[in-house]
Amino acid sequence: MDPSHVIEVEDSKLLRTFQRFGLVVDHALGAYIWDASGRAYLDFMAGYGVAILGHGRREIADAIKAQLDRNSICHGSLYSPARAEFLEELFSVLPSNMSSAYMANSGAEAIEAAIKVAVKATGRSLLMAAKGSYHGKTLGALSITWGEKYRKPFSQLLPKVHFVDYGDLKSLESAPFEEAAALFLEPVQGEGGVNIPSGEFMREAERRCRSSGCVLVMDEIQAGLGRTGRIWAHEHWGVRPDVMTIGKGIGGGVPMGITAMSSELSSAMRLGEQTSTFGGNPLASAAGTAVLRVLKAERLWENAEKMGSRFIQGLGRIASSRRLAESSRGLGLMDALDLRIGVSEVIPALISNGFISTYSGLRTLRFLPPITIGEEEVDRALSIIDKTLAEIEQAKRAASGERD
Ligand SMILES: Cc1ncc(COP(=O)(O)O)c(C=O)c1O
Repeated sequence: MDPSHVIEVEDSKLLRTFQRFGLVVDHALGAYIWDASGRAYLDFMAGYGVAILGHGRREIADAIKAQLDRNSICHGSLYSPARAEFLEELFSVLPSNMSSAYMANSGAEAIEAAIKVAVKATGRSLLMAAKGSYHGKTLGALSITWGEKYRKPFSQLLPKVHFVDYGDLKSLESAPFEEAAALFLEPVQGEGGVNIPSGEFMREAERRCRSSGCVLVMDEIQAGLGRTGRIWAHEHWGVRPDVMTIGKGIGGGVPMGITAMSSELSSAMRLGEQTSTFGGNPLASAAGTAVLRVLKAERLWENAEKMGSRFIQGLGRIASSRRLAESSRGLGLMDALDLRIGVSEVIPALISNGFISTYSGLRTLRFLPPITIGEEEVDRALSIIDKTLAEIEQAKRAASGERD
């Protein structure tokens, strides 16, 4: 299909809920995406952090193809070797207190299941989350998502939600732990701006959960699976969640979400209380097994830590040398650059220079590249970001009549 026709069809037929950037993807491999004209783009968005092993990873494609020849659907009422194999791999990397997992089709669905499990197990209905949080856009997940622009148009959300200040110990002191079913926390906030909490905050949150019976849910959907330099980002903080939600990269590009929980919680759920037609789908399971095997065999969290530190240092240099950049931060390959101008001005310019990234809020570029990237890709990304900001600065100077 002609790229301009693709844009025309999508723009006229698809519900307009995504911010679009006018790039039609022809194919992708490793850390690169190509458009129909054969132009390559370095992809530091990676499907919003999904392509952790890079695009077109052979092991994932082979696993999906082999599974497709056996069966592509096996309802949860029947048994599936592909699902069992995935679960064995999954539990080999989960913390030892996790005893069962619910298999869903997206991150938001994994969050919905976590809400239900916590409410059922505690008999409480109040939920707690953090300001700046993002947990998804289904009604339950949206209720514990901070952004007003997402929540406000939909009045009938879950009625009892308390938001603590992310990273603020004082705000934990006054939070109603005794009445709460669960506290949902991202180990590093993504949508909120790549916010990295202190270990002290996380451990105090855990301590208060333990003493009050409030369930601690770690939302590892974005930060998990090696991205921050540990398999699970909460490992940085030395805490032990009661529930973990996992998504994005886990299905190797096939939709999948996981809610893992400790035995005390899983025993609260009864037959029929949480199911989904596609949950535990054999194709997603086969892909997920391949993802986890590659992740473990190549110890990719170590690469994320190493490449992340090179990239974060480079972002720091850009932040201190470019007028349009303000500050930078990151953990492994979950990184951000704060700008003094809107991302809407910068992202299209980056795309024009062959680089794709995403954003958090209006002025922060967010980077979620494949965690397989090497030094060449890190350096290339830094050089494109620097060059793009230099070009915008120069254009602004020219427009204001200022001399170089
Ligand atoms: C931390 C976190 N939780 C939940 C979600 C929702 O996942 P999904 O978009 O697959 O529903 C996201 C998506 O970006 C996320 O980053």
